[in-house]
Amino acid sequence: MSVEIFKTTEVQDFLRLASGLDQDGGNPRTKKIVHRILSDLFKAIEDLNVTSDEYWAGIAYLNQLGARGEAGLLSPGLGLDRYFDMRMDAEDAALGVEIGTPRTIEGPLYVAGAPVEQGFARLDDGSDKAGHPLIMHGTVYGANGKPVPNATVEVWHANTKGFYSHFDPTGEQQPFNMRRTIVTDAQGRYKFQSIVPVGYGCPPDGPTQALLNQLGRHGNRPAHIHFFVTAEGHRKLTTQINIDGDPLVFDDFAYATREGLVPPLVERTDAASIQANGMAGPFAEIVFDIRLSALVQGLDNQIVDRPRLAA
Ligand SMILES: [Fe+2]
Repeated sequence: MSVEIFKTTEVQDFLRLASGLDQDGGNPRTKKIVHRILSDLFKAIEDLNVTSDEYWAGIAYLNQLGARGEAGLLSPGLGLDRYFDMRMDAEDAALGVEIGTPRTIEGPLYVAGAPVEQGFARLDDGSDKAGHPLIMHGTVYGANGKPVPNATVEVWHANTKGFYSHFDPTGEQQPFNMRRTIVTDAQGRYKFQSIVPVGYGCPPDGPTQALLNQLGRHGNRPAHIHFFVTAEGHRKLTTQINIDGDPLVFDDFAYATREGLVPPLVERTDAASIQANGMAGPFAEIVFDIRLSALVQGLDNQIVDRPRLAA
């Protein structure tokens, strides 16, 4: 049967007690957030008449999520990463801040410490034989519309099996394979050679996919390439481009696709292009210019300081 006790003084006092609001010690911000989330959870349990069996299935689920290290995967899957981007876009709109290249989610697979190269980098080590060669390049522009020399373009992407170095369950990839930091040249240009990445999905036997199954949703991403772009006097840009033509470009389980982040991919098969780029044969070319946004009152007001792997 369903009962209603949430609004009683007993339950409301109990929520304050459990959140430490009656205690002097601890962290006030943590108390405030825990009190709110706990209250919302208690209310949801009452409103939806959540059963004990359902609740304990949820607790077991959280343990599985942690044991598999998938909290950072479920987060974009449930749209929370996208929601933070929506909020930052709305903040910018409210402040009248002009955004250049759209931001999109970082995802959980960045690794700090990639080799730094000037102007050009080869990202892959040639070991992924199924890979179709890729040349990607563009110019980083500042908020004043001028090219930015010495901007830092950090780039990372998956191989043709959809795995990232440092997170590859096959153990096939060397550290920092398909990860580099490229410093733009005097004309603000960056360029890299790699292979066209392939989309990937959540581990099929993992807790993220299990929940998505319950929601009737798939857990796949279109092929994409991640970027952090930083330059003096500008806010750090976190973004991704999708590989044009991937059937999931606008059906990403992590909701990272945005207008302006699907640059055309052009197949180059002519001898002149092949020779000009020092390639051994046909390759795919993506041109993508990056437009940074200015600091806000001298600060990067949206910098995200989150735990990240470093190697
Ligand atoms: Fe990714």
